[in-house]
Amino acid sequence: MAQPLFRSPPGTRDLMPPDTDRMRAMVSVFADEATKAGFGQVTPPMFEDIGVFVRLGEATDVVTKELYSFEDKGGRTIALRPEQTASLCRVFVEQRPLTPWKAWYYGANFRYEASQKGRYRQFDQVGAEVIGSADPDLDTELIALAARFYERLGLRNVRLMVNSLGDPADRAAYTEALRNYFTDNVADLTEQSQETLARNPLRVMDSKREPDQAIIASAPTLADFLSSEAAAAFDRVQAGLKAMNIPFDIEPRLVRGLDYYNRTTFEFAAESLDAAQNAVGGGGRYDGLVANLGGPDEPGIGFALGVDRTLLACDAEGVMGAPATNPQVWIVAATAGVEGIAIVDQLRRLGLRVDKAESSKSMKAQMKRANKSGADVAVIIGEDELARGEASIKPLRGQGDQHSVPIEQLETAVQEYLE
Ligand code: HAM
Repeated sequence: MAQPLFRSPPGTRDLMPPDTDRMRAMVSVFADEATKAGFGQVTPPMFEDIGVFVRLGEATDVVTKELYSFEDKGGRTIALRPEQTASLCRVFVEQRPLTPWKAWYYGANFRYEASQKGRYRQFDQVGAEVIGSADPDLDTELIALAARFYERLGLRNVRLMVNSLGDPADRAAYTEALRNYFTDNVADLTEQSQETLARNPLRVMDSKREPDQAIIASAPTLADFLSSEAAAAFDRVQAGLKAMNIPFDIEPRLVRGLDYYNRTTFEFAAESLDAAQNAVGGGGRYDGLVANLGGPDEPGIGFALGVDRTLLACDAEGVMGAPATNPQVWIVAATAGVEGIAIVDQLRRLGLRVDKAESSKSMKAQMKRANKSGADVAVIIGEDELARGEASIKPLRGQGDQHSVPIEQLETAVQEYLE
């Protein structure tokens, strides 16, 4: 076969059945959970003024290294969204919905990352955000929404990690303590982490590189810097999770990869996946972000779950098979007229999955195709049947012989057969 002239760009994939079917099913489970919890779906554009994303924090890789940005024909600097929390905050500021505003979303995000299995340059997320309430019970509710979603998919080995990043003053004190600690140990850090240290000592905590890990393991933790209010809120979240029987680990070194977080942060790790790409979802509070985007000083909390990675976790655990998409009925129509496509339409309108081969093919070729189609039953109509006002029903799987039915009874006969 000739080599294709073009391939999908690095870091992107052509999603095909059955994965597309599984992803759609996954999103509909999420939609169902989010709707039950009072969230409305919001779909922001896939690109925004670059300023929206720059507000995510100038020390964040997602902004400094990974943004897809370009100047459009009107001279605006546009960026493809690397995530949707900033977009949702922009929507909130522009649309001013009633608070607390509960929004869920689904769609593609773009990050110019070093691509590998589970890490793509275009990937889908489902997510949920609540803007306008600082109630820590909401933190618990959101974590529960994500946990119940994984549970409904059938995933068993997803570990929930929670932490509190405290309030900005707590974080500032902690960041200073980290800066001092890492500076004292700078010689043992990797070169990348030394660079990161100069920009933001907190980000060093994200490093998964072996030499850094040893230093990170003994770094100060934020727990010792929490204000009494932040500590009380964190206690409340933990009490809520316990009341819901949602298992969790407190992970004092969980700082997350984005800069806007304060107080509760959390991440879900699929233990069936390689550690480097096992974060299937994460989120937390971002009480200053809305104001940072020029809006009122409203607190926010949310999470996003990686659809692609969650699917990999489902593969690893052998759950969330594809919903059935094979045809149920295959029409074999060897007549001169258009009877065949009329029957296809009639049966599809009943809600059945129905297909047929090209009309120009011989009866024999069409039957061969029917046998390969995966359908449960074939409906055969040739000139003889047509003349008698009948169609034949031929079981393709399981028991039963081919038999004729009057054409008016075809719908009932097919439905009865499929029951
Ligand atoms: P994030 O941790 O950057 O957070 O992304 C959330 C999830 O998206 C990750 O846990 C992962 O499953 C998936 N993900 C991220 N990058 C990639 C990639 N390159 N390839 C495949 N999957 C990926 C956020 O995006 C925040 N907006 C979450 C949030 C919402 N915080 C508050 N509200």
